[in-house]
Amino acid sequence: MFCLGEALLDKKFWEAILELLKKYNNTPHHKDGKILGSMTTTPHPLAVYAYLMFIHTNASDPVIFKEIENMMNEIIYELAKLYRGGESGILTSGGTESNIVAILAAKKVFSNKSNTVIAPDTVHVSVDKACDIIGCKLVKIPTNGNPVDASTLEEYIRKYNPFAIVITAGTTERGLIDPVKDASELANEYNVYLHVDAAYGGLLIPFLHRHGIIREDLRFYDGVSSISVDFHKNGLTPIPSGILLFNNKRCMEKICYNAEYTLYGKYCGLLGTRPGGSVASIWVLLKHYGLDLYEKIALKTYNIATYAYHKLAELEELKVFKPILPIVVFKHKYINYIELLREILNKGYFLYKSPSLEALRIVIMPHVEKSHIDDFVNAIREIMQ
Ligand SMILES: Cc1ncc(COP(=O)(O)O)c(C=O)c1O
Repeated sequence: MFCLGEALLDKKFWEAILELLKKYNNTPHHKDGKILGSMTTTPHPLAVYAYLMFIHTNASDPVIFKEIENMMNEIIYELAKLYRGGESGILTSGGTESNIVAILAAKKVFSNKSNTVIAPDTVHVSVDKACDIIGCKLVKIPTNGNPVDASTLEEYIRKYNPFAIVITAGTTERGLIDPVKDASELANEYNVYLHVDAAYGGLLIPFLHRHGIIREDLRFYDGVSSISVDFHKNGLTPIPSGILLFNNKRCMEKICYNAEYTLYGKYCGLLGTRPGGSVASIWVLLKHYGLDLYEKIALKTYNIATYAYHKLAELEELKVFKPILPIVVFKHKYINYIELLREILNKGYFLYKSPSLEALRIVIMPHVEKSHIDDFVNAIREIMQ
C-alpha cells in the first residue's frame, strides 16, 4: 500500500510517524473548555467512525457510490419533516458554500429581475462573497442590530426589485432570528427568491420554538425557496458538512452542470468531488438517534447560555445581552472590547467578536459545560481586578 510495503509493519516506523504528528498536536481542544467563540465542536465518535468508513467515497458520484446518494435522500427526508418541506438538497462544505449556491440558483430562477440581492446588514460575510463571485449587487438593510422588520423589508423589495432576499435564522454575531414567515409572505407576493441562512440556527430554532423558548419558527413556509443548515456546527459531525435544501427540484436543477466525462453526467453545486464521509456521518447520527439528538443539544446549549448570561451579569462592570439562541454577547462598560479580548486571549481563552455591538461573544456549542463557564467567569474576574 502506497509503496510503503514492509514499513507499515515496522514498529519503529510508526513510532517515528507518531513522534512527527505529536510535534504538531498542540492545537487547543474543545474539551479543554477554552474554545468559547468558534462555531466548531468535537464531532460525535459515531459520526467520525462513519466518516472514516466512507472516506473513499465521492458524494458527487451517485453512480459509483449509490449508497451515499441513498443516505443523502434519507437525510433530506428527515430534514423535510423538521422543516415541513424541502424536496431536494445538496451536501455543501458549509454555510459559505450554501449561501453562494443558493444565490446562484436564485439568479438563474429569477433572471428577469434586477441584478440585486437584498439582506439585513446582520447577514454573514459569505453573502458578500457570493455576490462578489456571482457579480450581483448586495444591498444591505440597516437594522440597528435587530431582526429586520417586515415593513422595511417590503420597502427595499419595492425599491430594488431584487432577484433574491437573504435572511438569517441565527445571526453570527448575536443569534438574531429574522422573521421567516413575514419574509416568506413578501417573497410570495413579490415573486422573489427567499434564502434562509440557518447555518448556525437550523438545528436549534425548530426545537427551541417547540419548547416555547423562542417565538420564531423555521420552516419552508410558502415562499421560502431554500434553507441552509450546518451539521458541523450543532450537528456533531466532522467538518465539512453543510446541507442546502431547496423547496423544489427546479432550483436544484439550476445549479447542476453537464460533466459528460463522468458516469453521472453532471456536477451540482460549487464543488466537484465532495466528501461522502460527511453524508455518512450525518446519516448515522440521524439513523441512530433521530432528531431527538438535536433537540437535546438545543435545550442543553440554551440552558448553559442562560447560566452564562446570569453568571456574567453578576459582574457589575459588564453589559450582557440576553441570549436569543445560545450565544452570549457581553462588553465591559469602560474597557474597549478589543482591549478586553486581548486580556482574555492572554488567559488562554478563544472568543470571537460582535463588532456591530462593540462586544465579545461566547457561542455555547455542544461541548461547553457549566464548569467551563465558571472557569471563564473567574478568569474575567481576575482580569477586572
Ligand atoms: C449564519 C452563518 N452563515 C454562514 C456561515 C458560514 O459557515 P461556514 O464557516 O461553515 O462556511 C456562518 C459561520 O459562522 C454563519 O454563522
